[in-house]
Amino acid sequence: MAAQFDAASALVAWQRVHGRHDLPWQGERDPYRVWLSEIMLQQTQVTTVLGYYARFLARFPDVAALAAAHGDEVLGLWAGLGYYSRARHLHRCAQQVVAEHGGQFPRSAAQLAELPGIGPSTAAAIASFCFGERTSILDGNVKRVLTRLLGYGEDLAVLRHERALWALAQGLLPSQAADMPAYTQGLMDLGATVCAVREPRCDACPWQQACIGHAEGSPQAYPVRTRK
Ligand code: ADE
Repeated sequence: MAAQFDAASALVAWQRVHGRHDLPWQGERDPYRVWLSEIMLQQTQVTTVLGYYARFLARFPDVAALAAAHGDEVLGLWAGLGYYSRARHLHRCAQQVVAEHGGQFPRSAAQLAELPGIGPSTAAAIASFCFGERTSILDGNVKRVLTRLLGYGEDLAVLRHERALWALAQGLLPSQAADMPAYTQGLMDLGATVCAVREPRCDACPWQQACIGHAEGSPQAYPVRTRK
């Protein structure tokens, strides 16, 4: 067999050349800014988020400013982004960071995931972008990318199978913490720009040579999920 394929190195190299580099929260190591962008991006497209992100930062430049704001003002600035529970959690999270963490976001994904509105994948995004933690994001796009790469055909509606996929994702991470931001962004970029739901552009994919879904001829067969 040929030398083992190094998926992490291939993705990091691809991200540096072909990934997205023009978004305002990229290259950002301030957890407040990364957290704000990730919460906004949870259910809203990048193009919509850009303006809201800039206005939020102009009005609330740091977590203390957001925590001190009136709830109505936070909701007002959020108006139009939808999913208003996100804004309420955002505000409560800021208040909790100030009250319980001295105004500093905790540095581990495990601690971040205990804060309001921060699920496991968002926690992993913040920890890997800001602190180089070796932990994998696993949002819907990334589940698609990884199940295709690995030929993982178990039903992701079953929690145990989702957990098993996350364990496999942990095994793919770069060995160097310094590569974590590019790797995490690469996973997001691959899901957003190459490994599309219906028509993946496999010829443009850095993982093509190792991808089981591609080798089987039908990457669209993954992920398997019997219910949402
Ligand atoms: N969607 C969720 N997080 C993102 C990020 N950091 N960059 C681009 N799209 C995203």
